[in-house]
Amino acid sequence: MSLVVKFCNKFDEKRADDYDRLYELTSSVKKNYPHYKDWFYGVFLEGLKKNERTIVSVFNEKSLAGVALLEHSEEENKINTLFVLPNCRGKGVGSLLMKESIDVLGGSEINITVSGKNLFKLKGLLDASDFKLMKIEKDFYVKGEEEYFYQIPKKPNVKRSFKIK
Ligand SMILES: CC(C)(COP(=O)(O)OP(=O)(O)OC[C@H]1O[C@@H](n2cnc3c(N)ncnc32)[C@H](O)[C@@H]1OP(=O)(O)O)[C@@H](O)C(=O)NCCC(=O)NCCS
Repeated sequence: MSLVVKFCNKFDEKRADDYDRLYELTSSVKKNYPHYKDWFYGVFLEGLKKNERTIVSVFNEKSLAGVALLEHSEEENKINTLFVLPNCRGKGVGSLLMKESIDVLGGSEINITVSGKNLFKLKGLLDASDFKLMKIEKDFYVKGEEEYFYQIPKKPNVKRSFKIK
């Protein structure tokens, strides 16, 4: 695979079709996040308009292989979504997205939550990136399911520094 990373932190109304495609490609996360569609259009794209969100995309040749949706708002510094297309999994795309996301969010603490059902896929990546388990909440997104809250703690003496690539 020949992987290329791209960053987008500005909303472009001419790219409505690209945003729709991005939503369709990632829509299987609805299994664990039932309000994903409302969140994607109502919260994420609105946040992109305010420069409080970033899309990190990894391309293999010219095709999208995976994407990370990031939040760097007053409220939180967070990896909202980490998604690799099914046919590109197990080839290091998720690791690359994680590394680039942490690099963009930098400085302050970085949060991510993972459904208990997906934890086995992500645990190695979270441990390798120094994420610490902060809490587990039941019924948070889906009734009967556990959501795991992880965080990379704030680095002492490093100012909050959202890095625009
Ligand atoms: C989780 C996900 C992002 C991993 O992406 P990926 O490109 O397959 O990950 P990588 O190939 O970089 O592998 C990263 C590590 O996870 C491990 N891993 C990946 N898939 C795994 C699986 N199904 N079971 C167990 N471990 C797995 C790899 O072995 C690797 O560990 P290593 O570095 O020790 O070898 C991808 O499976 C995905 O998009 N899943 C659906 C969406 C999701 O669950 N997102 C997470 C919540 S936001």
